[in-house]
Amino acid sequence: MEANRLNQKGKALGRGMLLAGTAALLLAAGCRQDMQDQPKMIPQRGSEMFADHRGARPQVLNTVARGQLHEDSYFYTGVVQDTNGYRKEQNLMPFPVTMEVLKRGQERFNVYCTPCHSRVGNGLGEIVERGYKPAANFHDQVRLAQPVSHYFYVMTHGYGAMPDYSAQLTPVDRWAVAAYIRALQLSQAATTQDVPSGVQVKNLQDVAAEDGLPASYAQPWTLPSTAIQAYPHDAKQGTPAMAPANPADPKISIPASKPAPAAAK
Ligand code: HEC
Repeated sequence: MEANRLNQKGKALGRGMLLAGTAALLLAAGCRQDMQDQPKMIPQRGSEMFADHRGARPQVLNTVARGQLHEDSYFYTGVVQDTNGYRKEQNLMPFPVTMEVLKRGQERFNVYCTPCHSRVGNGLGEIVERGYKPAANFHDQVRLAQPVSHYFYVMTHGYGAMPDYSAQLTPVDRWAVAAYIRALQLSQAATTQDVPSGVQVKNLQDVAAEDGLPASYAQPWTLPSTAIQAYPHDAKQGTPAMAPANPADPKISIPASKPAPAAAK
């Protein structure tokens, strides 16, 4: 009993001392004027110094910070100023294409472009199978004729139903992807002249048979009949970007939309 009371007294005393200590500390802190109140700007905080009360200062009009002049360079825009005053795309890479650049391009392409354009770039990716507008086929005459910086420009600004990829891909990666698209185009249009003489070229049907793959492996890639089509190939809606523009273009067949189920009676 007695011990308990003593214990409580001790606790109360301790609390009192703690309070006094804190008060003393606070008082001491209140006297500090040195580093605490510096005349400095704190990011994202207001300031009484300027008329607009903003601590962060906007860039002075018509000036460019050192190292930030991106507008006028082909590397950042993919276009050059033409003599007629319009911007012009070029069939030119701003840096040499090495195997390393192509590998990086392939890796980025497979991450960001294949969901719609597919790994071979025919525009029939998984998302298109599920109803997205057919993406461009990189092997048709229109796309083959486009200069390489067009691909860079499309990734930078988007194109029709395609969103832009400027946030996901840095300029150097966009160029790497553009270079890889050229490699893809070559891979799908290679001829026997492209292989060193004396090398035996196998036919795709034979390769499929040897590897035990289904015969359809060597056939043109088509959308499966299970594909959903939110975008029927209807002349009134315009021609999908991947539709063959030339009779010589690789044919891609799009199954007709499934008929609407008959209304339940
Ligand atoms: C979400 C789906 C989607 C993704 C992902 C996508 N695209 Fe596309 N892309 C499209 C569609 C759809 C079109 C056709 C646009 C139209 O006609 O409205 C297109 C068109 C294009 C074209 C043709 C433009 C023209 O002039 O006809 C290029 C080049 C292209 N895409 C490149 C790319 C590259 C490179 C990537 C990866 C960085 C990519 N796309 C990722 C959907 C996509």
